[in-house]
Amino acid sequence: MVSPISCLSILVIPLLVTSLFYQVSNACVNATYLDRICNQSSSYELCKSTFASDNRTSTADLTDLLLISYSSNMNLLETTIANRIPKILELLNDPLDKARLQNCQTDFIYALGKLSGAYLASSSKNYRKAVNLTTDAYVKNVECEKEYDTTNRASPIADVPQNVTGLIFVSYAILHEIPPPT
Ligand SMILES: *[C@@H]1O[C@H](CO)[C@@H](O)[C@H](O)[C@H]1NC(C)=O
Ligand SMILES: *[C@@H]1O[C@H](CO)[C@@H](O)[C@H](O)[C@H]1NC(C)=O
Ligand SMILES: *[C@@H]1O[C@H](CO)[C@@H](O)[C@H](O)[C@H]1NC(C)=O
Ligand SMILES: *[C@@H]1O[C@H](CO)[C@@H](O)[C@H](O)[C@H]1NC(C)=O
Ligand SMILES: *[C@@H]1O[C@H](CO)[C@@H](O)[C@H](O)[C@H]1NC(C)=O
Repeated sequence: MVSPISCLSILVIPLLVTSLFYQVSNACVNATYLDRICNQSSSYELCKSTFASDNRTSTADLTDLLLISYSSNMNLLETTIANRIPKILELLNDPLDKARLQNCQTDFIYALGKLSGAYLASSSKNYRKAVNLTTDAYVKNVECEKEYDTTNRASPIADVPQNVTGLIFVSYAILHEIPPPT
């Protein structure tokens, strides 16, 4: 949970040390505000559980939350690419089933690259670039779902593109809250 106490202390100490470097937009996000962002993301449960399981959340400002949303998505893509898909591929015999899953793997590798770029862009506060890269990742991730749309085969990894999209919506909801530079 986001504690207002730790929020306050993390804000006050740097304020005392570096005084004017910290501005209002660096304020730590309280539980009510985070709840509103999660509601706006249209993937409320995923959003809540992602931030609840990350110990950086209690002291996070909007940029930190954005970075958490990206790193959580990158972890999901990494384990899917490196662990989950290879294990399923070993069990498949049909060449078309294999090809569909390999295409998803390729889509995920591409999306991972774009989200890594979005993470870096966000950490240097280039949010316009982050939006662009996030959208590129979103479009490619949806291609994996399309692989299975046209067949009667159920995707063995349907939860992955679904959660990747969900986490991307979380990133968009946070980006929407970050004021443009003045
Ligand atoms: C939570 O943060 C929002 C946005 O910064 C602010 O308007 C609100 O007053 C804060 N609520 C509490 C309980 O601190
Ligand atoms: C959550 O979002 C919906 C619209 O998607 C809105 O009607 C509702 O008031 C929101 N709830 C809160 C607590 O923000
Ligand atoms: C997808 O998100 C849900 C929560 O919304 C979670 O329960 C589930 O474990 C996630 N699956 C993957 C593969 O991340
Ligand atoms: C968060 O947890 C990790 C280990 O899971 C630890 O290395 C890190 O120091 C923790 N950070 C905070 C701010 O508590
Ligand atoms: C992101 O920028 C690149 C290069 O400027 C461009 O080719 C691409 O279409 C942009 N993507 C989106 C979603 O706007």
